[in-house]
Amino acid sequence: MAVEQTLILCKADAVQRGLVGEIISRFERRGYVIAAMKLLRVEESRAKEHYAEHEGKPFFPGLIAYIMSDPIVAMVVSGESAIEGCRQAIGATDPRKAAPGTIRADLAQTIGRNLVHGSDSPASAKREIAIWFEPREIAVRPHPLESSLISD
Ligand code: RTP
Ligand code: MG
Repeated sequence: MAVEQTLILCKADAVQRGLVGEIISRFERRGYVIAAMKLLRVEESRAKEHYAEHEGKPFFPGLIAYIMSDPIVAMVVSGESAIEGCRQAIGATDPRKAAPGTIRADLAQTIGRNLVHGSDSPASAKREIAIWFEPREIAVRPHPLESSLISD
């Protein structure tokens, strides 16, 4: 196990629906630490860079429009195996297939409005964090669970 950083976005629907606090709370209750956070409106170039892997797919134009439709909240979340752990907390891409207890299953209905983005690998996390944050914007914070995880 290692402390990792992952890029989390509370997408436009999360901000519109007033669910940002609920979403942050779920990560914090899991023991993850918010290392950086900002609310911002997304310009097209950044939206396309972030979702570059999906360029050319049928849902790509709608995905970009969705991300740009209202401000979003971008975060760097850190913790033990945070990349996989946050993806687990977020749930499957389609909320109808997400496990109960996950953010998408509990709070969302459709794949096109699934509230949250989470990096899917260490390489993605590194690439995506650099798109949204400068190094000086990311705080080094202690992890409250660190000592309790030593038994692993
Ligand atoms: P994300 O990148 O947002 O964390 O979501 P994900 O890894 O679970 O899913 P991904 O395959 O990366 O897809 C990115 C986002 O595109 C939208 N999508 N729509 N209509 C469709 O078939 C479809 N497929 C994907 C979703 O909003 C998904 O979160
Ligand atoms: Mg993805």
